[in-house]
Amino acid sequence: MKQKYRIAILPGDGIGPEVMREAYKILNILKNDFLLPLEFQEFNIGGIAIDNEGLALPKKTLLGCENADAILFGSVGGKKWDTLPIDQRPERAALLPLRKHFNLFANLRPAKLYSELEYLSPLCSKITKNGFDILCVRELTGGVYFGHPHGRVKKDDIEYAFDTEVYYDYEINRIAHLAFQLARNRKNKVCSIDKSNVLNSSLLWKEIVEKVSNSYSDVRLSHLYIDNATMQIIKNPNQFDVLLCSNLFGDIISDECAAISGSIGMLPSASLNENNFGLYEPAGGSAPDIEGKNIANPIAQILSVSMLVRYGMHLTKIADQIDKSVISVLKRGYRTADISNNNNYLKTHEMGDVIADALINGK
Ligand code: NAI
Ligand code: MG
Repeated sequence: MKQKYRIAILPGDGIGPEVMREAYKILNILKNDFLLPLEFQEFNIGGIAIDNEGLALPKKTLLGCENADAILFGSVGGKKWDTLPIDQRPERAALLPLRKHFNLFANLRPAKLYSELEYLSPLCSKITKNGFDILCVRELTGGVYFGHPHGRVKKDDIEYAFDTEVYYDYEINRIAHLAFQLARNRKNKVCSIDKSNVLNSSLLWKEIVEKVSNSYSDVRLSHLYIDNATMQIIKNPNQFDVLLCSNLFGDIISDECAAISGSIGMLPSASLNENNFGLYEPAGGSAPDIEGKNIANPIAQILSVSMLVRYGMHLTKIADQIDKSVISVLKRGYRTADISNNNNYLKTHEMGDVIADALINGK
């Protein structure tokens, strides 16, 4: 364990700062009560950085992140900045460059149905009664979103556009290794998703995943085509543990898994690079529709802290304790508006307080 573990905190826009305030409660407990050697420094990012410093990702923020061991990110974006050219808007000009700069090739998105929140899932009770706990492992820096050539051409009366899916063996190799390693701390199952009956890039994907699996004889590997995978996930999500996906398929699959688990306000994520540097953030965005109302669910941000502790610091037991505190408040009936099935719910800061209390008192 490092002598100091520095976290760059980037609250951003919309509900970002509101839910980050609750994450701070957890961070302060980790520092003051669990005696983790944490140091936090906060930086501007996104729309607020455009307003204050003229850029969505100011130099000072990037430097602060470079000097940190991990980034805890809120969310960026909002109507106010939607009139800017697309590549200057907060999401494009802040989050994407950060992912690229730190080569965050692995996007981890857990999607879990808490038994206390079964009523949130759009799936029928026949399916939800078995629950599910899926970890989507999405390749984030390769594939069709980045492949060359891409473009759009207009010639005479005809217009066409094209994108290219490119995967290098080393890109598949590293994400596959990570998926198998993660499965070892879960249910030892990896399902790799591809379209190898049609796409060359998918065929290479499948072959390399097979090869990597030889080093993990304790982990069971299966393969599904993307179209079948989307069906199997809604029919029986409980059969899955780790889903290993390319950038494009992972984008789709992780949103599908998020949708069947209920509220986006519950879902954290991690984006990691090869040196285990990570950016941790809620799966959702800046939620301008509820900004300033003190009703945002801080759980996704708090569970992002848990992922930071788990994957960045490798303190599994402490991460488990944070997760347990969240489950404990759900079990005791505490809800924010987005996950409540009646008019009785906690404000953002109250939810932060009950989770902090559960963590400090080992509930
Ligand atoms: P969104 O995730 O912000 O909101 C979708 C719906 O989920 C809204 O009804 C919102 O109220 C709700 N929601 C999200 N987080 C919640 C929470 N913690 N508690 C309770 N309800 C929550 O997605 P949307 O509306 O498409 O985007 C809004 C803005 O956020 C846009 O400017 C978009 O570009 C940006 N965005 C930023 C992301 C990031 O910073 N990583 C990711 C996705 C969107
Ligand atoms: Mg998406």
